[in-house]
Amino acid sequence: MTDRVLIFDTTLRDGEQSPGASMNAPEKLRLAVQLERLGVDALEAGFPAASPGDFEAVKLIASKINNVQVTALARTSRADIDSAWGAIREAAHPRIHTFIATSDIHLEHKLKMTRDQVVQTAVDAVRYSKTFTENVEFSAEDGSRSDRDFLCRVFEAVIEAGATTVNLPDTVGYAMPNEFEELISYIRQHTPNLHRAVLSVHCHNDLGLATANTLAGLRAGARQAEVTINGIGERAGNTSLEEVVMGLYTRKALLGLETNINTREIYPISRLVSMVTGIVVQPNKAVVGANAFAHEAGIHQDGVLKHRMTYEIMEAQTIGLMSNRLVLGKHSGRHAFKNRLEDMGYDLTREELDRLFEKFKELADKRKEILDEDIEALLAEVILRVPDIYELDYLNVVSGTGAVPTATVKLKIRGKETQKAEFGVGPIDAAFNAIARMTGTSSKLLRFSVNSITGGMDAQGEVTVRLEEDGLVALGKGADPDIITASAKAYINGLNHLEYMRNNPSVLPEEAVI
Ligand code: KIV
Ligand code: ZN
Repeated sequence: MTDRVLIFDTTLRDGEQSPGASMNAPEKLRLAVQLERLGVDALEAGFPAASPGDFEAVKLIASKINNVQVTALARTSRADIDSAWGAIREAAHPRIHTFIATSDIHLEHKLKMTRDQVVQTAVDAVRYSKTFTENVEFSAEDGSRSDRDFLCRVFEAVIEAGATTVNLPDTVGYAMPNEFEELISYIRQHTPNLHRAVLSVHCHNDLGLATANTLAGLRAGARQAEVTINGIGERAGNTSLEEVVMGLYTRKALLGLETNINTREIYPISRLVSMVTGIVVQPNKAVVGANAFAHEAGIHQDGVLKHRMTYEIMEAQTIGLMSNRLVLGKHSGRHAFKNRLEDMGYDLTREELDRLFEKFKELADKRKEILDEDIEALLAEVILRVPDIYELDYLNVVSGTGAVPTATVKLKIRGKETQKAEFGVGPIDAAFNAIARMTGTSSKLLRFSVNSITGGMDAQGEVTVRLEEDGLVALGKGADPDIITASAKAYINGLNHLEYMRNNPSVLPEEAVI
């Protein structure tokens, strides 16, 4: 048996099913390019039948990604499979991923089908998919709660029909690691033709066991792991890519398994996913959390200084974390700046680099020291940028004890200057009220969060807002050493996104309907 584990990333499909994580086509493409750079074997670009927006996003990714298998999800209906194929047919390495539930609870209450009907439906879907491509994956949804012998029967039948990968999902995150390991061993022993397909595992994290179950499945002989960056996904999320990859890497002597992942790209892509989805990584998150390599206790610090391995099992550099490396100052040149970005894992177009460099210079005028995190905040503005219909020109607020918070804001709206003053319960509310009056928006503020990007008194504040208007939901980001300015920038960025979505319905992501 090979010791190579295939990494199948589903950040753009199952990950996007995280509440509020929807991404538009350009954002998905940017992540797909970074996933290719990371070295995943396959990426699930979306579920084309779910919405025209998803179809277009998958099609765009399929046309641009050459070194990774591009997968599209489909239920077993011909319409879904046609849509999946329509979206990925241009891919250099396309894969159709079709699925149907196999547990009795799903058969009885959701599908209202007998076991025989499920087997036939799965076989028909695989056969139909094979008319388009050799590369077909079949998933037994809710596999971990299915009857084991029935699972073996389904897998045997779909492999006979041509499935090249069979996937066992723990759809509701119910399995225990020893149980999941046994289940995989059982399937391997009782599915006679399993050697003709790759056996895959796909776990959810409802009990916090997704990584443990995935590793257990791999120990038992599965050779594909379905994962997402930062573990984002439906409900409590999916198995996180970085945990599985670093688990295999760190314990290679024990497990004897390896992946094709360039681990140094892990941290940059983790930041990018957080930036694009607005889902903050919890500080104590394994591998990529802000505290994952921080040592607080004196005894630990002392130990690490004497010998790193006393309290560290991985090196920060292995995952591409350069630990707050000081970047250039205001006299630094464009070339050095570009090199630093490349070290951080970002490969920008010339135009993006120009815009970013301009913002970097503006910030360097305000701050002495600029860290990687500051650059990432600027990147968020550039990467998440859509055409600026609204631009902040000027902001002045009056607030304090005894003063009525007032904001005077000057905006450029489609290039034309306009100005308003408004009151509010606080200075941010006053600024938002003025912006809302000038833009005429009736959007609802669903989320507002402020983070300090780096430590220190002159740290930049990074604000994320989520806005909703007319059924559209958009993310806005802004960073500035002044958090009121950062908030106004984030709000304006969110309004620009709403406007962009309104004018470009084809890039709209919609909630998948599984
Ligand atoms: O969790 C699940 O069962 C899925 C399948 C569609 C693979 O995401
Ligand atoms: Zn899933």
